[in-house]
Amino acid sequence: MLNNKTSAFTFRLQNYLVKGILIILSSFFSFSIFAQKNESLAKTPPMGWNSWNKFQTSINEDLIKGIADSMIKDGYKDAGYTYIILDDGWMSMQRNKQGDLVPDPQKFPSGLKALSDYIHSKGLKFGIYNCAGDKTCAGYPGSHTYENQDAKMYAQWGVDYLKYDWCNTKDLKTQDAYTIMGNAILATKRPMVFSLCEWGISAPWAWAGNIAQLWRTSGDIYPCFDCEKRYETWSAWGIMKIVNMHQDIRKYAGPGHWNDPDMLEVGNGMSPAEDRSHFALWCMMSAPLIMGHDIRNASSETVSILTNKAVIAIDQDSLGVQAFRAYQKDSIDVWAKPLANKDWALCFVNTSSQTKDLNFEWHLNPIIDKDFDYTLNLTGVILAIKDLYNNKIIGLTKKPLKASIAPHDVLIVRLIKTKE
Ligand code: GLA
Repeated sequence: MLNNKTSAFTFRLQNYLVKGILIILSSFFSFSIFAQKNESLAKTPPMGWNSWNKFQTSINEDLIKGIADSMIKDGYKDAGYTYIILDDGWMSMQRNKQGDLVPDPQKFPSGLKALSDYIHSKGLKFGIYNCAGDKTCAGYPGSHTYENQDAKMYAQWGVDYLKYDWCNTKDLKTQDAYTIMGNAILATKRPMVFSLCEWGISAPWAWAGNIAQLWRTSGDIYPCFDCEKRYETWSAWGIMKIVNMHQDIRKYAGPGHWNDPDMLEVGNGMSPAEDRSHFALWCMMSAPLIMGHDIRNASSETVSILTNKAVIAIDQDSLGVQAFRAYQKDSIDVWAKPLANKDWALCFVNTSSQTKDLNFEWHLNPIIDKDFDYTLNLTGVILAIKDLYNNKIIGLTKKPLKASIAPHDVLIVRLIKTKE
């Protein structure tokens, strides 16, 4: 008995020792097999605002403080938006003599700790951007070989979220470079959401789940319904183009690890119908909801789309299952998403430029999620159909669902248990 106990103890001790040595070694050499992350973050897709889509590098302290104020004043924080993220363009062109990153003194005269304190004083969180290469995409100093030093600086500034880009990376390998930065963040002991941005080029969904909370799945978004915006060496993509690139990787997403089809363009020039479709689709896809418009001057229509709590609840549902496209008929795409309380969300998108009359017959169109093994059961059950943008019950599943959907508009509904 004593012998058994003693040898079990020795065995455990040896295990701890070996594990300890490996962890110490891994933090020196950043072995990818020991990559890990803070598992308590982003159990639902992160929500917030990022400066890039609207302002690119024209950012400054007053703008960001104004954004923080609007987050509260216009109800965004109350709807769940938390992170305020400075994208590219916040730094000076050179590191200082110690090799530290320096915020641009013209744009951020009070420094980033003061800005971070301001954001935190509003109950919000602070995010920042850098890049795995020598330079960021806009030509500012990148983090390559400075990963630990930069992560420490972010921790000192009170950063809660790092978006990490992939320009000027030469022959670096995505998985290695992102693992090094992930480990640098972990070493600071400050919880930071780690958001990868290599545009889906090395299928990050297949390897990034244990180092990051989210990863971009495509090139940059562009505020149009279905266009391709060509630049010299690359293209940015309209909403439907991104949706189509994104749909086959749903099985890789879930609580704490999300596919990221890029930041929102709601309020950046599309029609209200297109904005409604864009937002509904991002919520169906369990996408991070990172707004990208000037929230200080948004129209009431834009605010009402982005703060619709019933639609946001589909995105933030704790089951965390990304929707699948169940049907595509007569220019109407039908998306389906199982929810934690056994309700379902369905989203009917009119992809054409003509008004379409929907006549959805439940018995002819079974809803079956083969990846995650859920089936919408309508046998002996009648569910109420709630139109989420208009906040009203529009029918029961015992009859076909009929609706008229305007061009590029959407009908997003939640199927809810009823006693009938
Ligand atoms: C890349 C990213 C964008 C943005 C810019 C900044 O293009 O995909 O989201 O961060 O860089 O330069």
